[in-house]
Amino acid sequence: MSAVIDAGASDAGICAVNRKSVLAAVAGIREDFFLTRRSVRQFSAVPVSDAEIRRAVRIAATAPADGDRRFFKVHVFTRRGVIARLLAAHRGAYGFVSELRGLAVITTTRPVGPDASERRDMWVDGGFFAMSFVYGLHAQGLGSVVLNGTPDDSVLRARVPLADDESVVCLVGFGNLRDRYPVACSARPEVDDILLTHTGTVRPRLR
Ligand SMILES: Cc1cc2nc3c(=O)[nH]c(=O)nc-3n(C[C@H](O)[C@H](O)[C@H](O)COP(=O)(O)O)c2cc1C
Repeated sequence: MSAVIDAGASDAGICAVNRKSVLAAVAGIREDFFLTRRSVRQFSAVPVSDAEIRRAVRIAATAPADGDRRFFKVHVFTRRGVIARLLAAHRGAYGFVSELRGLAVITTTRPVGPDASERRDMWVDGGFFAMSFVYGLHAQGLGSVVLNGTPDDSVLRARVPLADDESVVCLVGFGNLRDRYPVACSARPEVDDILLTHTGTVRPRLR
């Protein structure tokens, strides 16, 4: 990493980035990397190692965050009995709880004060972090499924030692891939359905 970002060349908090190193780092990444990530709900019995979990968290920690405020925590559970207890009342995981070899509870810290935009940003930041964690798992050939944090996280709060100011962003179930496994055939939207390229001028500001 130091070859890409030269902290030694930093001046007043600015680091120099080496374009060549960035290009070398991304050269091996193809669109297939993204196309092969699907939500996985059936896993092999092979446990996920601590080193793999730590690597996924290290990758997640690179996610951008508003104002550089990185208030995330990842609570990870790998004992199947514990995962079953944590997800006992989870409505989105019926039928595959026993398949999960790991469960990450991703949290962020609630801002103090009434600032509504900070409260919104904490969920946006949390989404970027969670997605980066999912890609951190995928980059190691591990499967995952995001699970909603449930509107009412009291079941989790009763069982996971969360600080009072921690809010659950979402959960991520994960594990090693089976040789063959089923996924929901969720269609990806067509680029033309979601991309709106604006090449002209924009409306003058309304008063
Ligand atoms: C915030 C969020 C919450 C989700 N919650 C659940 C869930 O509770 N149960 C589940 O089986 N899948 C859940 N998913 C996975 C989605 O169903 C899945 O991503 C979607 O169907 C697209 O499929 P894909 O991930 O294979 O592309 C969730 C995904 C997100 C982003």
